[in-house]
Amino acid sequence: MIGDKKIVYSAVQPTGCITLGNYIGAIQNWIKLSEEYDSIFAIADLHALTVRQNPAEYRKRAMSFFAQYLACGLDPEKSIMYFQSHVPEHAELTWILNCFTYIGEAQRMTQFKDKSAKHADNINMGLLDYPVLMASDILLYQADYVPVGVDQKQHLELSRDLAVRFNNLYSPTFTVPEAYIGKQGAKIFSLQDPTKKMSKSDPDVNATVSLIDTPDDIMRKFKRAVTDCDATIRYDEENKPGVSNLLTIFSAVTGRTIEDIVSEYEGKGYAQLKPAVGEAVVEKLRPIREKYLDLLNNKDYLMSIARSGAEKAHSIARRTLAKVYKKVGLVEG
Ligand code: TRP
Repeated sequence: MIGDKKIVYSAVQPTGCITLGNYIGAIQNWIKLSEEYDSIFAIADLHALTVRQNPAEYRKRAMSFFAQYLACGLDPEKSIMYFQSHVPEHAELTWILNCFTYIGEAQRMTQFKDKSAKHADNINMGLLDYPVLMASDILLYQADYVPVGVDQKQHLELSRDLAVRFNNLYSPTFTVPEAYIGKQGAKIFSLQDPTKKMSKSDPDVNATVSLIDTPDDIMRKFKRAVTDCDATIRYDEENKPGVSNLLTIFSAVTGRTIEDIVSEYEGKGYAQLKPAVGEAVVEKLRPIREKYLDLLNNKDYLMSIARSGAEKAHSIARRTLAKVYKKVGLVEG
């Protein structure tokens, strides 16, 4: 599976819920990338331990995320899919890279500062080390490209710096990864505050649509979506962010152009548009939800995919780690 093609790597923390925004903006794109490149995808379950998790819920959510990615059409024959915690090399390389990361560098990370402010009672070592673990994820697999959102760009920069630093101190060991700036899916905004991105950790359940929401929930959320009091249906991000967001979603899930939708709804009101978008989303997500429920009923199958993914990941990661151990002067075991 890992051969001459370029390697793309991505991972997601199993927190919050996977949203329609993630699906349209990232997951669909990722599936396309996995057709073109050798792709590796992890559930970053060690990363999310940097904030307190309820163990029973956390375990369930990690499984649920894995099943949702499969249900979206990620193909374990084409992509290596695994849980980060199943591959011990992630933690092992993190230790080595820790010895090459300056404390100041880690403290400068915007996300560390934000999370420290948000979890002031639990500013743990893991929070500071988070980007080094992320660098290990990427560097272990000699990834060429990492599709990242703006919030992870600084972390990717650190991964690059660490790769270059190590390569210069010893000899070429790591591929220096690049941010993948390919065609992005449409950006989807919150249904309650359409000036904010739809976020997987938004505490307002009405603001986001989860991939596994029931059809009733989806319809309710769209009927309540925030719009504006100028009742015309047209695309105008600046003055009509709510309606524009609904039109973007409608277009993304049906494949129709925005102009086509706008002309169909000319002279009609939000009371007609909102349920129509809701129904289109319900139809788009229906097969995903069905496949997801099916997979959850078949835990043995899910685990067999996770195990085989971890085995493949492990064999690649081991090769990189062995080189690193040798270069830094550890006695070969
Ligand atoms: N930190 C990323 C996020 O919160 C998740 C992540 C962990 C990741 N390891 C990664 C993303 C490696 C890309 C590559 O979104």
